[in-house]
Amino acid sequence: MPMNIYTDGFFSIDPTHGFLPIQEPLLHLPERYQPLQDLIDEMPIQKADGQAGLLACENHFEEAARKLPNYKDQIEKEKDPFVWAALFRTYSFISSAYTLAPAHHRYLRTGKYGTANGVLPKNIAQPFVKIAEKLDVFPWLDYHYAYSLGNYSKRDKQAGLEWTNLAMAAKFSGMDDERGFIMLHVDINQYSPDLVKAVFAIAQAETPPTELTDALSLMRDSLHKMNGRRKLMWEASRWKHYNDFRVFIMGIKGNTDIFPDGLRYEGVWDEPKAYRGQTGAQDNIIPTADIASGVIHYYPNNQLTQYLMDLRQYRPKCVQAFFNELAEKMQKNPLVQQLEKSENYKGMQALMRVYEEIYRFRNGHWQFVQKYIMQNTVYPKATGGTPITSWIPNQIKAVLKAMKVLSLALEKDPQWDSVNWQETYERKVSLLNKQLALVAVEAFDPQAVFELNKIHGEQDF
Ligand code: HEM
Repeated sequence: MPMNIYTDGFFSIDPTHGFLPIQEPLLHLPERYQPLQDLIDEMPIQKADGQAGLLACENHFEEAARKLPNYKDQIEKEKDPFVWAALFRTYSFISSAYTLAPAHHRYLRTGKYGTANGVLPKNIAQPFVKIAEKLDVFPWLDYHYAYSLGNYSKRDKQAGLEWTNLAMAAKFSGMDDERGFIMLHVDINQYSPDLVKAVFAIAQAETPPTELTDALSLMRDSLHKMNGRRKLMWEASRWKHYNDFRVFIMGIKGNTDIFPDGLRYEGVWDEPKAYRGQTGAQDNIIPTADIASGVIHYYPNNQLTQYLMDLRQYRPKCVQAFFNELAEKMQKNPLVQQLEKSENYKGMQALMRVYEEIYRFRNGHWQFVQKYIMQNTVYPKATGGTPITSWIPNQIKAVLKAMKVLSLALEKDPQWDSVNWQETYERKVSLLNKQLALVAVEAFDPQAVFELNKIHGEQDF
């Protein structure tokens, strides 16, 4: 049975669109929301015209936001998913800016995040919750509709999705490092249609061996291209400038120093709520690759894996449905078993190359975490609320385990160079173990992790 295509009118998870919206998101809200559009345009620390915006001065943004009309009833009437997404994006940005502006200003003064505003005023909370209900998501800044995939605008409409050609519709800092950081996520996703095409073919039960091998090669090629783009992070967004905008993407859940009592949505609920923050961990590329390739079966059984599963709920419903069906199909017909049954060694080698790309992604990504976060801050929680030092290596281990199991099946392949493979595998294991030893020390030096990757030839740039 082929995979179903899931869509909400904004995203459609299929081989044409991959994980990107079916067309470019709206850059501006419809005119009936002009005061809202004006507020979001005036908001960034640095506005489009280079002048200081409302977030540049303490309290200025909060004062302006409290004066907004309440658009709850107008939003009730909206029918277009693209307008819904643009409204959700606007209210997400406004709500994060409103609550987190005090933490930002305290950080500038003292180098430590202060506490956030714990009450979202009614004129923001009510329309925000209304639009979140329409999209069936939590009322907090997310990765799909708000911060990343639903937030790009091509500068030259005829050119491609390279980050250099992408502007952000809504922004916090308004500076180029923020744009490069999040627009590179969109750029990487330009290759997601091929990834989806490949997993659609892999998930079809009884795909003939040659087609399965071709699908795995396509999966590897798309991941390889994504890795090539991912590495551009180092130039798209300078690591020393990550803190200029990071505080605004913090979540409520897990970040109790910033939100000690959760967040109260005035005029909506009496009790406070706590939602997770926007994070690249809400992106779909790696989870899709993990589910289809079987890496997911090697995830450790711990709190951090639970967090990844919890994040499934922070995705559009159509993405959740896609993951569920993919997982179900792969469960019924596990990939390695399929390959073994048909003695498809070419397919196994192609799968090993897929694992290699997932490993590269995670090991390079681990270096991002060291530089952009650990080197910049003493605050040990990520925007999604995870204890970051111990996070990513767990998932690197899962890839290494999957590789090991597959290598045993490949032993029967006369073409397989097991000596050479074992050597590079041992290097990866040793690199990981040394990194884990380094970060186990309370006051570790992130630069040392970086140097280690350099020595092992795995430096990300
Ligand atoms: C400077 C760049 C980046 C930094 C500093 C960063 C930081 C982090 C952190 C701290 C986590 C831990 C979870 C949490 O948020 O609480 C995480 C997880 C994750 N991030 Fe990123 N990230 C970056 C770029 C990216 C990109 C470009 C992607 C993909 C498009 C991505 C995809 C993921 C995924 C899939 C996870 C879940 C962990 C895993 O499955 O291995 N990240 N990231």
